[in-house]
Amino acid sequence: MSTIGLIGAGHIGGQVARRAVEHGYDVVISNSRGPETLADLVAELGARARAATPAEAAAAGDIVVVAIPLKNYRDVPVAPLAGKIVIDTNNYYPGRDGQIPELDNESTTTSELLQAHLPSSRVVKAFNHIYASQITTDGRPAGSADRRALAIAGDDAAAKNAVTHLLDEFGFDTVDIGPLSESWRIQRDTPGYGPRRNAAQLREDLAAAKRPGRR
Ligand SMILES: NC(=O)c1ccc[n+]([C@@H]2O[C@H](COP(=O)([O-])OP(=O)(O)OC[C@H]3O[C@@H](n4cnc5c(N)ncnc54)[C@H](OP(=O)(O)O)[C@@H]3O)[C@@H](O)[C@H]2O)c1
Repeated sequence: MSTIGLIGAGHIGGQVARRAVEHGYDVVISNSRGPETLADLVAELGARARAATPAEAAAAGDIVVVAIPLKNYRDVPVAPLAGKIVIDTNNYYPGRDGQIPELDNESTTTSELLQAHLPSSRVVKAFNHIYASQITTDGRPAGSADRRALAIAGDDAAAKNAVTHLLDEFGFDTVDIGPLSESWRIQRDTPGYGPRRNAAQLREDLAAAKRPGRR
């Protein structure tokens, strides 16, 4: 696992790219406006980074991170992501994303929508409940007292192991929520969404999460 592809290079995509480069990964970043608009970020990231189209970033990545507004998830290229580990960072904000009825009635989750769009990919939820800026500031070496924990969810055990390894390199413990269908436990407005938590605290938050809108 040596290259991370990024679809979306804003707050979250940019920060994941910075942390990945710090840890020796090559990164291929992309956005909606074209690689030439990412010249400043590529220059900042240095020789390990290049900009490309979303399809090229998807093809290049051993792990590919989707960090775009949820409303655009159907734009994520399908074919080049077949078989790959795809990290879903996305959250649902109706003010930004418009109303999505199956999320409004909680009959599914954001990650299951992305998994349905990418049926041959191995989607893992991660990074959705940490402020982007903290991805480069809150990491600590393994074994540090009160190390911050991040939640993951996914349907593929090997993919979750790979993401757990990546998060450990980035300086975070991991709490596995279970399958994608359980990822609502860390969605917007749940106890674990936002605050800094160690693994034990995050497990408590996940257990305390409620889904009052489910119909
Ligand atoms: N910001 C946070 O602290 C945070 C934390 C956790 C999770 N999240 C979630 O992560 C996702 C991304 O948030 P963000 O704050 O990083 O957003 P952002 O700063 O607005 O960046 C969005 C990025 O996605 C790109 N993009 C938009 N539509 C695209 C498309 N159709 N194809 C390819 N790239 C596209 C944008 O490129 P252009 O500029 O060229 O359009 C931009 O690079 C959201 O779902 C958000 O809720 C955010």
